[in-house]
Amino acid sequence: MTLTSKQPSATAQSEALFERAQQVIPGGVNSPVRAFRSVGGHPRFIASASGATLTDADGQTYLDYIGSWGPMILGHNHPAVRQAIMDALPSGTSFGAPTEREVRLAELVTRLTGVDKVRFVSSGTEATMSALRLARGYASAQSGDQPNSAGRKYTLKFRGNYHGHADALLVEAGSGLMTNADLLGQAAPSSAGVPPEYAALTLVADYNDAAGLDELMRARGHEIAAVIFEPIVGNAGVLIPRGDFLEALRRTQDAGALLIADEVMTGFRLSIRGAAAQLGLKPDLTCWGKIIGGGLPVGAYGGRSEIMDFVSPVGPVYQAGTLSGNPLAMAAGLATLQELERDPAIYGRLTRYTAALAGGLRVRAHSAGVPIRVNQVGSMLTAFFLPAGASEDTEIGNYGQAARSDTAAFSTWFQSMLNQGIYWAPSQFESIFVSGAHTQADLDRTLDAAATAFAAVAASGGRV
Ligand SMILES: Cc1ncc(COP(=O)(O)O)c(C=O)c1O
Repeated sequence: MTLTSKQPSATAQSEALFERAQQVIPGGVNSPVRAFRSVGGHPRFIASASGATLTDADGQTYLDYIGSWGPMILGHNHPAVRQAIMDALPSGTSFGAPTEREVRLAELVTRLTGVDKVRFVSSGTEATMSALRLARGYASAQSGDQPNSAGRKYTLKFRGNYHGHADALLVEAGSGLMTNADLLGQAAPSSAGVPPEYAALTLVADYNDAAGLDELMRARGHEIAAVIFEPIVGNAGVLIPRGDFLEALRRTQDAGALLIADEVMTGFRLSIRGAAAQLGLKPDLTCWGKIIGGGLPVGAYGGRSEIMDFVSPVGPVYQAGTLSGNPLAMAAGLATLQELERDPAIYGRLTRYTAALAGGLRVRAHSAGVPIRVNQVGSMLTAFFLPAGASEDTEIGNYGQAARSDTAAFSTWFQSMLNQGIYWAPSQFESIFVSGAHTQADLDRTLDAAATAFAAVAASGGRV
């Protein structure tokens, strides 16, 4: 679908809705990054979406690169997904009892990804939180402790990786915590309300630092139940793991820790099997979200039977959910994964499109004299705005390197893109997502807008 000629300049309806929302919803939004606080201005309220576009409450249409933060790999309101939800709807919306669709989606996920068993929850946060509890219960039992004694009680995560908002994982986390770090008044992003005793159970290492990870595992490996990681990081902006780091990740399993691949963002996005498998890893547990629910609230975690059978009701690790396996959500997830399986070439197309976008951004930024570093894998991409004078070869492979980005320059660029009808992620520290609905004409239009936006950055000296 192409954009309408109407330019997104009038925002009266969005402004009025935001005003009302702020009276009754903290910050006017139900998830922080939607608030535009780091880029300035106010959020657009979306009335509808179709294909690669969003239409706001003022009737203006945007080319969307957020895709609901990842789920909409097929594009918005895909006919097969919509039909599946409509087919499920007349039978009722929630039963609190098992259904055939849960079995079918579990059969599909296990077949596609190679895990033996999968448990559905309602969000990515629930998936990682539950997988961690399971890992602690299982790893401790393997070490000879009673299953409920939590002998191996530590979790290891990586700076700038985001695994949802469970207490123990809000330690040096990425995504909105990185974006809003200054608002929290602390140098290391975290959250108020997390007792230090909880955070103390989470050890933190640098992503892509193989030596640091080896050293930590040598010192503390016997106490660590699980190492959780994003196979390709999306939540500090896109970060790509190096080969030696992947090797070190694999070695953590030798110390008796369970390796948990958080594929909430990467799962079914970069390949049908998963990013960890593509990178040569064999995680003990895998977490999913986003695409697995096709735009409805679904998360999941899975692994080998011997581990998954530690979950209640067969095992001693408790985990439950009133709406888990919800019939409409299962229908949307099934339709989405079936579409992806039916058209495996989609991954090649998405990669080609996104690589062309990356190349086009580099060329246009260079012409404008704006130093950027573009990290791109498959349909995930971040354009990091480098500090003035930095070389375009500057590597961005960890949280510290990403955090040095020129966020003022990014904000200028973001606002210019938005004014030209391109809806980029409103944060320097997020991935954008290309969908199967984006076309060559969309790509061309995006790059034309990007050239104008880079010129605006150059003219402003990076200031908003
Ligand atoms: C890698 C990763 N893990 C976990 C989560 C949390 O998922 P949810 O927002 O569905 O709770 C996210 C969300 O962005 C994520 O990107």
